[in-house]
Amino acid sequence: MSERILLKFGGSVITDKKTDCAINYEQLSFVASSITRAITGKGLVIIHGAGSCGHPEAKLYRLDNGAVAGQTEGVYITHRAVSRLNGAVVEAFREKGVPAVGVHPLHAAVADNGRLIAFEYRHLEKMLLLGMVPVIHGDVVMDLSRGACIVSGDQLVRYLAVALKIDRVGLATDVPGVLDGGRVVPEISQKMVPYLQIGNSMHTDVTGGMRGKIDELLGLADAGIGSDIFHVLRIGDFLAGVDHGGTKVKGR
Ligand code: IPE
Repeated sequence: MSERILLKFGGSVITDKKTDCAINYEQLSFVASSITRAITGKGLVIIHGAGSCGHPEAKLYRLDNGAVAGQTEGVYITHRAVSRLNGAVVEAFREKGVPAVGVHPLHAAVADNGRLIAFEYRHLEKMLLLGMVPVIHGDVVMDLSRGACIVSGDQLVRYLAVALKIDRVGLATDVPGVLDGGRVVPEISQKMVPYLQIGNSMHTDVTGGMRGKIDELLGLADAGIGSDIFHVLRIGDFLAGVDHGGTKVKGR
């Protein structure tokens, strides 16, 4: 079977995190072009974050506290914001000839205590077999104990990379890799974490910034799937399987 790649880009790559839901169409078009050039013969799954289209809403409605009967407006408003971004991503990809289709976790996933416990993926398998490119996103999902919670793109990466038997996982960010004191760490594993000074995102972020991302990826690496973190401008290099100047996340 052809190589399966999961590519995630953070919300800060495709939105301006300083302003409410400001979609960076120029960057989206760049990402779409890089993908068009590289996907022939590959199975590709895209996951994106929310950036300024979802984080401010999740914070405003305190979705970190969950949702209770009669106070569920935040579920709708947050999902609407991130779905709007997802629509823009899908459109940008299709304009460049990528057969993208949006898939919303709110419709397919269940969480408990803030963690995904189920995500229907048989339809994603079918899409991949047909050469389609599912575009999934960080979302609000229903949570068995909290009512609702936010599931980050990084948590989705961890779950779906295993479920879909992904060969290579890449995370495109607005920094060149994991930075320790301003320098890119070329390789990271669980035992190195206590010795690194990893910065947190400056902007509204309800899912843990770079630290949260690394925790998810280390969990994934321990499940046998390594990943790469690199600057968005190096997407082409990652897809081509050449050096991208970023960080490799390795298992124990
Ligand atoms: C958050 O997803 C989803 C919502 C707030 C609805 P992410 O946590 O993956 O988003 P970014 O990449 O940090 O913006």
